[in-house]
Amino acid sequence: MFHPLLAGRLMLFLSSTLAAAAVPGCQSRCGDVDVPYPFGIGPGCAMDGGLELTCTGNKLLIAKTSLEVTRVSEADGKLWMKNSIAKQCYNPATRSVESMTASVNFSSRPFFLSPVDNKIVVIGCRSLGYMQSDTYVVGCSATCGGDMIPDNGSCSGAGCCQADVPRGVRDYVSFFNDNYNTTQIWRETPCNYVALMETAAFNFRTSYLTTTEFSDRYSANLPVVVDWVISTKKCREAKYDRTTRYACISNNSACADNELDIDECLDNVTYPCGGICKNTLGGFVCSCPGGKHMMHGGVCMPNERPIWVVPLVGASAGIVILVIGITCSYLFRERRKLHIVKQKYFRQHGGLLLFEEMKSQQGVAFTVFSEEELRQATNKFHEEQILGHGGHGTVYKGVLKSGDVVAVKRCMTIDEQQKKEFGKEMLILSQINHKNIVKLLGCCLEVEVPILVYQFIPNGTLFHLIHGDHGCQISLPTRLRIAHESAEALAYLHSCASPPILHGDVKSNNILLDGNYTVKISDFGASTLAPTDESQFVTLVQGTCGYLDPEYMQTCQLTEKSDVYSFGVVLLELLTRKKAFNLEGPEHEKSLSMWFLSMMKANKLMDILDDQIKNDENIEYLGEITELAKQCLEMCGENRPLMKEVAEKLDMLRKAMQHPWVQQNPEELDSLLGEWSAPGVVNTGNFSIEKKVVMGLKSGR
Ligand SMILES: *[C@@H]1O[C@H](CO)[C@@H](O)[C@H](O)[C@H]1NC(C)=O
Ligand SMILES: *[C@@H]1O[C@H](CO)[C@@H](O)[C@H](O)[C@H]1NC(C)=O
Ligand SMILES: *[C@@H]1O[C@H](CO)[C@@H](O)[C@H](O)[C@H]1NC(C)=O
Ligand SMILES: *[C@@H]1O[C@H](CO)[C@@H](O)[C@H](O)[C@H]1NC(C)=O
Ligand SMILES: *[C@@H]1O[C@H](CO)[C@@H](O)[C@H](O)[C@H]1NC(C)=O
Repeated sequence: MFHPLLAGRLMLFLSSTLAAAAVPGCQSRCGDVDVPYPFGIGPGCAMDGGLELTCTGNKLLIAKTSLEVTRVSEADGKLWMKNSIAKQCYNPATRSVESMTASVNFSSRPFFLSPVDNKIVVIGCRSLGYMQSDTYVVGCSATCGGDMIPDNGSCSGAGCCQADVPRGVRDYVSFFNDNYNTTQIWRETPCNYVALMETAAFNFRTSYLTTTEFSDRYSANLPVVVDWVISTKKCREAKYDRTTRYACISNNSACADNELDIDECLDNVTYPCGGICKNTLGGFVCSCPGGKHMMHGGVCMPNERPIWVVPLVGASAGIVILVIGITCSYLFRERRKLHIVKQKYFRQHGGLLLFEEMKSQQGVAFTVFSEEELRQATNKFHEEQILGHGGHGTVYKGVLKSGDVVAVKRCMTIDEQQKKEFGKEMLILSQINHKNIVKLLGCCLEVEVPILVYQFIPNGTLFHLIHGDHGCQISLPTRLRIAHESAEALAYLHSCASPPILHGDVKSNNILLDGNYTVKISDFGASTLAPTDESQFVTLVQGTCGYLDPEYMQTCQLTEKSDVYSFGVVLLELLTRKKAFNLEGPEHEKSLSMWFLSMMKANKLMDILDDQIKNDENIEYLGEITELAKQCLEMCGENRPLMKEVAEKLDMLRKAMQHPWVQQNPEELDSLLGEWSAPGVVNTGNFSIEKKVVMGLKSGR
């Protein structure tokens, strides 16, 4: 088979040398369409069975298909065909969305959808349209609203987007991603479309969004450009088959098979060449010296008949591309095997969805890394680069070409269900941009199990800070800051997407600290996908009771409040500097949360708090924080505060602690206190009493 790259070029020879009428006795016209050789209407009329057409009721069809040919151009060796549109339209009668896919299948015929002249066009205000062939899926996402204002004549994402058609496509199906909820916009945008069509025939109008104009205009007549090749015969056969006319006859033309790497030039009997023979990988090129042109049997004859004239530039370019194409096509085939496997994984991981969506969302700094890049970055996943590892995965330190240091997480297993969810989750995670959440920089989807690439966080985990053997003092304000930043990050996770992103594994081990000891929550979402590194593994076994929401253990349903519970345990760790679960301790002290609650009940809280922070100054605040922790640890999830409320409360405590005599939010405080006390009380007397009132109000549910 010819490399599809060659298709259009080869046609230059064909079109100029075979600008000839149909085979005698064969119909040369169907309706308004001229049918030049090598095409033919009916059996035996075409040069090759694949090029056979049929004429039914003035409609010219590719034989044995319902694909209608509207034009065959001799000048540039193309063929035009009518294509169908994939639609997604709201039906007000049934109040539902009805979808229609579109497809083309040339199966083994020598046709290809032109990658040069066609585009995949997606029209809609909330749409992600695809074209999928055996080895490719491509698509793009068109959206409206915000900065995306559709404009006449512009198809760059706002209401309309377009993607390139891959090379070598002989069959495809186009369809929509139906995860998009378009309920609210159907009235204004009744239909979404995916059309594979001739680029030159398309000009976006805003009315395509609001009316059915696009569909009315094109549904019966969507032009698509098709390249064709004479691929079924070898040059040798073609040359000597006198019943048909050989295509490569002109001045600078050549024919080449694309199969075996033999040196045809050495065998001038089987492969005669009266001109300059040049062996290529999988073929040979026979050309004539200047002033001559090639005749049947590879004989070079002086030029005489103008009919053989080929546009010189086009033809020379054709040869160059032909040769390169053939050389490349061998490598191409080898690579392609691997490529197909990689593509498969890529698709399994929802990579295309991710990738296309990424492309449509400018400003998202997310990279789809190749396996090779990450291999290099981590020195082939060298042992020395390991930051941590456990039963299921390993985290490596890596240095990208750009010099950026990253953490590369390679997981060992991922099940089918997880594979499906993967792309979607990555998409969400990649869009999270919060100063207290570790940034997912990218991923690699070409491998069976995805590899994640995170920002590298140098200062270890909160677990290490609290429980590490370094004898550091950690002041209450620092602890409060860490708690507040963590809570902010979790609150953000819970609110930034719908349904909320649940961390599912909040613990001091997953709270990383960067150079300035700023919190970076890590492993959210991904932890449900792919446990785990060593530290996780340990807690998973020993610490299940330490952080896990008891309600979750009973119902097996992870909720936002499960994260709140786990966060409560982290608060206790910060206050007590004791581990969430301590196997060595006495029975009643094994679980920090249980121990804490029992001590609180017995009014012996002071005994359990960390000596470093137990002082008179702190006492009020400690009371507040322990109370907050208690609320987080409520048995019944419903009674726990929202993460947002926890964050707000910690924020207020922090501010109060920084500036005990300065009102941070006088207006709010006044208005809240207004009902309770006379104005003026705020700035006099014991501030912490008023403050308590305010906080009671703020978190009152
Ligand atoms: C096209 O047709 C061939 C055989 O007729 C089939 O094997 C192939 O799956 C079809 N392609 C698509 C995309 O349906
Ligand atoms: C686009 O052109 C149509 C007329 O063809 C016009 O009604 C419409 O307002 C134009 N839209 C924009 C955004 O200019
Ligand atoms: C789509 O959104 C509407 C309202 O915005 C909601 O009522 C409906 O349940 C959503 N549908 C799906 C499938 O999420
Ligand atoms: C084939 O090659 C041989 C030796 O290279 C030469 O003697 C002979 O004339 C060639 N035959 C043709 C038909 O070109
Ligand atoms: C054949 O090609 C040569 C250059 O290789 C050119 O000079 C000549 O004009 C061409 N002949 C015809 C008939 O176009």
